[in-house]
Amino acid sequence: ALDRALRPRRLAEYIGQGPVREQLEIFIGAARMRGEALDHVLIFGPPGLGKTTLARVIANELGVGLRQTAGPVLERPGDLAALLTNLEPRDVLFVDEIHRLSPQVEEVLYPAMEDYQLDIVIGEGPAARSIKLDLPPFTLVGATTRAGLLTSPLRDRFGIVQRLEFYDVEELAAIVARSARILGVELSTEGAREIAARARGTPRIANRLLRRVRDYAQVRGDGRIDAATAAAALDLLKVDRSGFDGMDRRLLRTIIDKFDGGPVGIDSLAAALGEERGTLEDVIEPYLIQQGYLVRTARGRMATRLAYAHFGLAPPRPDPPQE
Ligand code: ADE
Repeated sequence: ALDRALRPRRLAEYIGQGPVREQLEIFIGAARMRGEALDHVLIFGPPGLGKTTLARVIANELGVGLRQTAGPVLERPGDLAALLTNLEPRDVLFVDEIHRLSPQVEEVLYPAMEDYQLDIVIGEGPAARSIKLDLPPFTLVGATTRAGLLTSPLRDRFGIVQRLEFYDVEELAAIVARSARILGVELSTEGAREIAARARGTPRIANRLLRRVRDYAQVRGDGRIDAATAAAALDLLKVDRSGFDGMDRRLLRTIIDKFDGGPVGIDSLAAALGEERGTLEDVIEPYLIQQGYLVRTARGRMATRLAYAHFGLAPPRPDPPQE
């Protein structure tokens, strides 16, 4: 089964994100009762928490079609125009990485979102013409890793803004149990918890770990997954008890070992790790911060007492306050 097969299709199947689910249920229900397009929705949060899944669920619940694209794919205004003019009334247009739209494409999006109007220039030089077209009412669902990356005129045009949070272990265990049923794998409650506890608060990681643990159970065991099998497989994958992977440990150890626990500026840290700053900010740091291993201060990143304790080290000083 592909990843797609594991994704929930309806709100009722969607596990976790309680407040998001409840609000969307109301807004979707209201839009349906009035026969209107749902207001535009901005979903933000770290990768793997279900932004794309939620866009699909919204379209399914509205009973409309879904068109899917991404900020970097829409190179010219015409690319966006082609999508917009092909929508059926009340369809959902999902734009992933919406913070990466070019300014020219973003300009076209404003009147489209606000008045369902397409306003583009065709041709160049003296032959250039401006054309205005009416668009069908539609719902833009935009996804981004951080709301702060959006320009404010774009952010202001979303009537519904939802932030996805990391999932707790109970929720991830329920997701893994559901996935195991779909995959036809026998998974005990404790096995599910073991995988869930090491999944970095992220369903995409939980489902990936489940597949790897399934491989291990098939080759080294009888195919069934219990707590011991899951733990052995995850140790082999070097996913530790806190759910940290190699990169998480490397980031924390670099702050501790090379920068005396910090504070260290994000650019210096990125250079020391040979990683892009954006990857650190969007992918790696959010979980470490949420779990209390890392703090962002005005002077840079610092490893907390918890981080030192994780490696069996004594902290050099008390924790600073979080910015
Ligand atoms: N699979 C991935 N994310 C999920 C979620 N939030 N609920 C149910 N299944 C999922």
